[in-house]
Amino acid sequence: MINFWSYKKEYQKNRRRILKRIDKTLTKGSIFFGDELNKFEKKFRSKYKSKYGAAVSSGTDALLIALKSIGIKNGDEVITASNTAIPTISAIINSGATPKLVDVGNDYLIDCSKIEKTITKKTKAIIPVHLYGQSCDMIKIINIAKKHKLKIIEDCAQAQGATYNQKFVGTFGDLGCFSFYPTKILGAYGDGGFILTKNKKLNEKIKRLRFYGIETINKKNKFFNKYYANENGQNSRIDEIQCSILNIKLNFVDQFIKKRIILANQYLKNLKDTNLILPKKNLSNKHVYHLFTVYHPLRKKIIKLLDKKKIKTRIIYPYAIQNMKAYRHLFLNKNLKNSEIKSRGIFCLPLYPEMKKTEVNKISKAIKSILNSL
Ligand SMILES: Cc1ncc(COP(=O)(O)O)c(C=O)c1O
Repeated sequence: MINFWSYKKEYQKNRRRILKRIDKTLTKGSIFFGDELNKFEKKFRSKYKSKYGAAVSSGTDALLIALKSIGIKNGDEVITASNTAIPTISAIINSGATPKLVDVGNDYLIDCSKIEKTITKKTKAIIPVHLYGQSCDMIKIINIAKKHKLKIIEDCAQAQGATYNQKFVGTFGDLGCFSFYPTKILGAYGDGGFILTKNKKLNEKIKRLRFYGIETINKKNKFFNKYYANENGQNSRIDEIQCSILNIKLNFVDQFIKKRIILANQYLKNLKDTNLILPKKNLSNKHVYHLFTVYHPLRKKIIKLLDKKKIKTRIIYPYAIQNMKAYRHLFLNKNLKNSEIKSRGIFCLPLYPEMKKTEVNKISKAIKSILNSL
């Protein structure tokens, strides 16, 4: 059996180190807002070359707090891609704004040539989604945002460590949001998220918003609680146990990415002469292959036959946003064709750092024999 994803091998490798660190943290007596959070925030923002940044409880909350921090409210519009993960949309709606969808190109990224048509007087921000592990065209997006005075919040949930013109995603816009959901490039053993920013004031606001609106950081950068809300916030704090795990795993994240790229290149080499449509890497990008997404019109049959051979795949995502009950009414008569075509034929092959090249070869061989039999 080849699982689509598993954290078990990785956990076995680091088990002793992780349990020791968690034990130390709990023995010390801090559950929230302790040394592990401080260390993690420092390490993460310095690794990704951002002046400021704060950890939060999930990628979804990172997006919601980012939207609130720039003042997004009822009646505003926020632009994003029609093939994104549901949480990008729920964060926009929960901020009070209305999502405006833009179709995607053959690289599964927002089609920049269609953004300007979607802008109205109510538009306040763009959320480019660096889907599957590669950056959107940030030069084009920055130019559009400047021209129309829009804020940029990058959704980096699937692309930690990816670069565009050698600069890390999450550092182009006003804010960059990350997810540490276990399957992600840097996975916690639970939930977690991060917001990067170059703006000190925004960072301070983010730190209030994640903790009921309370001012929590004193002049010595130590946590304190006055039980006094400066503004209305929410509970989006991250706990010390997750930060302990993330502090350990952050040391290995470059190795994880290296391995992902090696495995992806192996798939690309093995499958290049098939009629499967393989991921397209744009020239200016370092793709970190959070997902290895392929396209074939006979997806259903291929997945079923792979399953018979005990190879598990996943469709990420089977529905474009405009085709879901929760959101359909917002996008009636919208032309978002490419995301719909793609959603009907895409599927993802297993790819995670603990996989072996031999497994990639086995999967490739199975796919080739299935494609020949169709
Ligand atoms: C593109 C994208 N945005 C946002 C999120 C939300 O992150 P989380 O699951 O940590 O809330 C995800 C995670 O699934 C995602 O893939």
